Amino acid sequence: MIPFSPPRIDDKICEEVVAALKSGWITTGPRTKAFEKKITGYCGNKNTLCLNSATAGLEVILRWFGVEEGDEVILPAYTYSATANVIIHCGAKPVFVDVNADDFNISVSNIEKAITSKTKVIMPVDFGGFPCDYDEMNALVLKHKDKFIPSNNPNQQLLGRILILSDSAHSFGARYKGKVAGSLTDVSVFSFHAVKNLSTAEGGAIALNLPAPFNNEEIYKQLCITTLHGQNKDALAKTQKGNWRYDIVEAGYKCNMTDLSAAIGLVEIERYDNDTLVKRKHIVDSYNSLLSIHTIFELPVFETPSKTSSFHLYPLRIKNITEEQRDAIIQKIFDEDVSVNVHFLPVPGMTYYKNLGYNLMDYKTTYDNYSREISLPIFHDLTDEQIKTVVNAVIKSVNAVIK
Ligand SMILES: Cc1ncc(COP(=O)(O)O)c(C=O)c1O
Repeated sequence: MIPFSPPRIDDKICEEVVAALKSGWITTGPRTKAFEKKITGYCGNKNTLCLNSATAGLEVILRWFGVEEGDEVILPAYTYSATANVIIHCGAKPVFVDVNADDFNISVSNIEKAITSKTKVIMPVDFGGFPCDYDEMNALVLKHKDKFIPSNNPNQQLLGRILILSDSAHSFGARYKGKVAGSLTDVSVFSFHAVKNLSTAEGGAIALNLPAPFNNEEIYKQLCITTLHGQNKDALAKTQKGNWRYDIVEAGYKCNMTDLSAAIGLVEIERYDNDTLVKRKHIVDSYNSLLSIHTIFELPVFETPSKTSSFHLYPLRIKNITEEQRDAIIQKIFDEDVSVNVHFLPVPGMTYYKNLGYNLMDYKTTYDNYSREISLPIFHDLTDEQIKTVVNAVIKSVNAVIK
């Protein structure tokens, strides 16, 4: 069976994790701090906080911005449920908008139509690692500054406009107009979950890039406390001589990254551009050249003059098929011993969200993209031979279903 996206676990990873284990320090410590600095250097943002997931990072920032009941947060209908769940956790209302037909990303003109005086945050998602239209989005929040009514949260008052919180779960290493994801808007959050391009088993990072007069270093320090029980000293600081006493300065959360995860991250980030991205681009190019000769396939967009994907997913679409036909094709591909997936089951169609009154059919492009989409395997160790097997399985299965 060709798997969908197994993590890359090689000797180098094992050695570094063992080194972390033997160092005697396994929770947040020197490796996490070093990984944070590497991310900041790589992305060109201002400060980075590593956590145990992207989901935690998204929620922490919504709460830092004081998002609460009565507020609205705009996000694409076509995303993973984590993007929406964190809005619900804060008591606010997710306002889903439809996406683009070409690149699966949130449509800026649909965002503009959804902005109201209750909008506090926009959460774009770089679907599959392809960056959204950040110049347009950054301009949009300035254009609608007058509509923004800050609460008494000091961060809302200081920003004085809608915050853009990018769900960059997929887009570590993606480029937009010469800049790297993480530095494209106010705050971006990466995922280092097991299936991601850069995995730390579980993990995530908040890339802070807030404009002046925000002090990103101060916010970083404050968020270290917020994400560790509200404790004013972390475990490492407390081990210093005579430094045992601590205080709890807020009712914080517990979502810090461990040094075991950071040990993996440090290996991965070192080889990310010259190895991981090169290999993923090769896989994408190979799929593209094998599939492009068949007119039934709609190939994903990975590169435009201003954008380069992180090549996280290969979201193939098949022209003029129904959802039922897509599902039948997937079944047949599995029968050929190839694992595929669908990204995503759109959030408004999930039971919890349906029960809140959302209807997937209100998001026509989202539904159309979803109903014809099959994500092909993409992972570092996928061989050229396996790529051909995948493509043959897809072609055979499509031909068997569409007679
Ligand atoms: C678009 C998107 N956002 C957020 C997440 C959540 O990431 P994590 O599992 O690191 O919390 C995922 C995970 O797959 C995702 O695909």
